Amino acid sequence: MHNHRYIYSFTYDIHNSELCKLESRQVFDKEEKNNFLFSNIKVDPSISPFIRCRFDIHSHSSDYSSLLDEIKQKNIHIDGFKAEYLVLDGDKTKYPERLSKLKDVGFCIEGDPDYVNPTIIYSICYFENTWYFGVLTKHDSDWLKHQNKPCSFSSAINIDIAKTLVSIASKGNSKKRLLDAGCGVGTVMLEACISGIDIEGCDIHWKACKATRENLAHFNYTANVYRSDLKDINTSYDAAIVDLPYNLFSHSDDNNTLHILESASKLADKLVIVSTLDIKALIKQSGLSISDHCTVEKKGKKFTRNIWVCQKAQ
Ligand SMILES: C[S@@+](CC[C@H](N)C(=O)[O-])C[C@H]1O[C@@H](n2cnc3c(N)ncnc32)[C@H](O)[C@@H]1O
Repeated sequence: MHNHRYIYSFTYDIHNSELCKLESRQVFDKEEKNNFLFSNIKVDPSISPFIRCRFDIHSHSSDYSSLLDEIKQKNIHIDGFKAEYLVLDGDKTKYPERLSKLKDVGFCIEGDPDYVNPTIIYSICYFENTWYFGVLTKHDSDWLKHQNKPCSFSSAINIDIAKTLVSIASKGNSKKRLLDAGCGVGTVMLEACISGIDIEGCDIHWKACKATRENLAHFNYTANVYRSDLKDINTSYDAAIVDLPYNLFSHSDDNNTLHILESASKLADKLVIVSTLDIKALIKQSGLSISDHCTVEKKGKKFTRNIWVCQKAQ
């Protein structure tokens, strides 16, 4: 673990565990285990609904007092800092000892602390006989305001899933250009916009486009929404998110599904596809290969969504 630069800590409900693991495989090339992982990949923790924080490792040592010496040698002078202890699975350090260790760290730093609005959060944690010191970046839960978007349809996807679709499609890289293919009320677009990711939306239905535009405007986001059949879009994107229709708001059958998949695969090399049905055969028929998959149970309901990560077959 000593050659890694970051530790990510995760939190999620049990019904989202498969979704979180899919996201973790796609963003970090490995699954989180026991709610954390070490990585050299840097992403904003707010890209994911499940990442609680990112710990940027500045020093580590198997010996606690050597770690304190290393912190002192950094000659940190800063006002408004705070120190927090990050508890990783397997760390048996009791609360009073954790508090005393936070004081130790605080004494290694020059400046007035600010526990309410800190300018920087220093942190320590312990894993497999090693103490780590670093800076903590916490998840910003501002995106939860999207739960109160003014327009919603029964076919709208839940915002946890929408946020994960964006992190998977972009791999946490805000430079990627995305398409919300069949945007409905724009649930996916809102999650891309709050992360500063360039996204456009397209829907064949005027009511959907109107609702998406209203939702975007409500949160002061700017993004293009095209009222169009996907087949008539001519732009190319790094990835397209395709939340397929299921017979509630819009009619769906195999021909329509195939039409949407074939149209979307002309616009992007990578597709993240969502369906309540098992459409593996149609995905393959549309010239895509599946690289990853998970199913998500809807909380409290006997209703499953499949998510496939696909590439154009070579
Ligand atoms: C399940 S809904 C998407 C829901 C959306 N993710 C949300 O959260 O509101 C599927 C959408 O695909 C749109 N759609 C169906 N066929 C289409 C096509 N050929 N081109 C563009 N949009 C299409 C439907 O109008 C519908 O709004």
